[in-house]
Amino acid sequence: MSDHTVTISDSASGKSVECPVYKGTYGAPVFAIKDVPGELGMFTLDPGFAATASCRSAITYLDGEHGILLHRGYPIEQLAEHSTYLEVCYLLLHGELPTREEFEAYERSVEEVAHVHEHINRFYQGYRYDAHPMSMMVGVLGAMASYHHHNLDIWDPENRELTCRRIIGKMPAIAAKCYRYLQGLPFTYTDPTRHHVENFMQMMFSRPNVEYQADPKAVRALDLMMILHADHEQNASTSTVRLAGSAESSPYAAVAAGAATLWGKAHGGANEAVLHMLYEIGDKKNIEKFVARAKDKDDNFRLMGFGHRVYKNYDPRATIIRQACHDVVDNMASSDEPWLFETAMALEEIALKDEYFIERKLYPNVDFYSGIILKALGIPLSMYTVMFAVSRAAGWIAQWKELMEDPEFRIGRPRQLYVGPEKRDYVPIDQR
Ligand code: CMC
Repeated sequence: MSDHTVTISDSASGKSVECPVYKGTYGAPVFAIKDVPGELGMFTLDPGFAATASCRSAITYLDGEHGILLHRGYPIEQLAEHSTYLEVCYLLLHGELPTREEFEAYERSVEEVAHVHEHINRFYQGYRYDAHPMSMMVGVLGAMASYHHHNLDIWDPENRELTCRRIIGKMPAIAAKCYRYLQGLPFTYTDPTRHHVENFMQMMFSRPNVEYQADPKAVRALDLMMILHADHEQNASTSTVRLAGSAESSPYAAVAAGAATLWGKAHGGANEAVLHMLYEIGDKKNIEKFVARAKDKDDNFRLMGFGHRVYKNYDPRATIIRQACHDVVDNMASSDEPWLFETAMALEEIALKDEYFIERKLYPNVDFYSGIILKALGIPLSMYTVMFAVSRAAGWIAQWKELMEDPEFRIGRPRQLYVGPEKRDYVPIDQR
């Protein structure tokens, strides 16, 4: 219900339109512009959707000014400390934390559908030995649509539930196969005796004929990393999933489209880009030079892992993961390059004191640190965005489900301001 309106007037025509204002639970209210085209004969222009709310959502709230992130009302700090990734999946999808019985039943039901069809294995063989695993993820996720096509009814709630479980369940297996294909290791199967994240690690790292022993600290670090990446409101990849879903596409294909968007280094590809940047910096003494490059408008270099469209304060996920980085680097044997973390810390310190970064409110984001954790877990650089994709699958599919259940469901179809040539006649090729 709207209790007041915003009036938009066109000084040229003298016409105006009343736009109803809606308040959410938190955050800036919005005014609905649905009647603007009809009343004023105009559309709104908002490059990058910086000022546009594309939907109503009850899943995630983030306040960029104050560094707040809530999933279904629960602060990320509390979920990071007390919850597990699979429980957060349940929360995002169902709106409430599960009871013990509900969680155990959910865990079993995800495990039951976590295996992937054996024929899917053949898809991997088509990739080059050095393919980027994100290209494999995009391809294999798209291929999944063909395995769940004929019996998929996106309008049936039970079918949607099953689809959500399948996507969350299968993502680790699909990702692990990418890793193992590139490493030349035989593909593995899910192990129902292990919990979700431990099972993921087992599928990634186990060696043939050797019983896999998971390091509980490593399992916890990965679980935490996955909780922190599980959902993040209407970001670019989630908006892609929603847009594809709004065309009534297969949810597997929609998730493949989300993965394709995530791959970009302005988005999920940033975790990989941060490590490349740290290697390029190489030594603390070079930091000033790179900071100067980031500030130079004639140089397209940006400090990877800094800045965020919404957070104009410290990213709360970065605060949590920064601490975890210390723990992981201090405790885990595989942290063989401690200089990386030291360089990252020195870079952070210098950038945070720099007027350019202060003025523009550019703080380190979650991906500034997540790569360091993944490195300590022994995960190769090219797999970082894949790890992000496995985690974000929870958010993608929860937002897809919410879209499908939205009474305002309709195909997403933005408009444009056409600035191309005026109408002209075709000129045959020999007369041009
Ligand atoms: N290094 C140097 N300058 C920057 C950076 C950066 N990382 N980020 C933004 N700026 C400058 C930008 O040049 C602009 O300056 P000016 O006002 O003088 O033109 C100003 O800050 C505002 O930047 P913007 O491009 O308008 O901001 P945006 O909201 O469109 O972009 C961003 C957000 C995340 C794409 C951008 O900050 C960026 O490219 N960061 C590096 C990549 C990165 O870490 N991405 C991960 C985001 S967190 C994970 C996720 O949720 O996907």
